Amino acid sequence: MKQKKDNRAEYSGRQGVKRLPGRERRREPGQTSARSGEKPVKKPGQPGRHVSGKRPEQPGKRAIGKKQVWRGGNMLYPVPAVMVSCARKGERPDIITVAWAGTVCSNPPMVSISIRPQRYSHDIIEETGEFVINLVTEKLARACDWCGVKSGRDTAKFAAEAKAQRDEAAGMKKAPDGTSEMAAPEKLTAGKASCLEAAPIILESPVSLECRVKQKIALGSHDMYLAEVVCVDVDEAFIDSKGRLDLDSAGLIAYSHGTYYGLGKKLGTFGYSVRRREG
Ligand SMILES: Cc1cc2nc3c(=O)[nH]c(=O)nc-3n(C[C@H](O)[C@H](O)[C@H](O)COP(=O)(O)O)c2cc1C
Repeated sequence: MKQKKDNRAEYSGRQGVKRLPGRERRREPGQTSARSGEKPVKKPGQPGRHVSGKRPEQPGKRAIGKKQVWRGGNMLYPVPAVMVSCARKGERPDIITVAWAGTVCSNPPMVSISIRPQRYSHDIIEETGEFVINLVTEKLARACDWCGVKSGRDTAKFAAEAKAQRDEAAGMKKAPDGTSEMAAPEKLTAGKASCLEAAPIILESPVSLECRVKQKIALGSHDMYLAEVVCVDVDEAFIDSKGRLDLDSAGLIAYSHGTYYGLGKKLGTFGYSVRRREG
């Protein structure tokens, strides 16, 4: 229940969301305002407000040309929104939606994910030292959002486990967290990972990166896990006749300032700026 409340306020970006108590009040991926999620309102003559609700460093004082100078905040957008799956051996697996994820090294291939210690998945990853990053398509976007507002503490996120949970709770009208839904809107299926002990891959995702944690850095609100990608599971549908990965038709999504987007038009490929123009 607590988780549900937290997420509503943290990620909705909608007006009128109440303040969160204590730690959870800090800004999160998708949250447009530290206060209420409202959009910045700039009245004539007033200094503009930071989209995170923060005021400019010195209101109305500092500007570079047409740019106001604001306090530091999380403004690196777009980012990926991915579904990270994890599990303890023999226990119900979990999926957490993560926007604070990135590629951090080419060789060895390494990624990072940042997770708040309050998350159910945090303890699992902490204990097992492994997780899977599953890329998200437009078809999976709703499930991705759903996994980001439900906690594995009281909700089964994979379809099979949700059915088991439903059977167990037969007779109950609602799920333990008070909602009537108990499985992701788009059916998610756990598959056996190729290189990991317990963390499952999401079969519906076109690409799953199996990761083993190398280092944890406690940064503040989030713990960052630096992990090596030990193998990658790719849906055959996206491997071309020459054995190359072709993700153009996968319909991957991006996340920017609280909103999910399908990828837009193709602008060019790596190095196109120095190649002779076509046509
Ligand atoms: C788009 C989106 C991005 C999110 N990014 C993060 C993130 O980077 N780190 C984090 O700790 N939580 C993030 N969350 C919140 C978690 O996904 C959410 O709290 C989830 O319910 C945790 O599930 P768990 O308790 O089963 O681990 C995000 C949620 C959404 C909707």
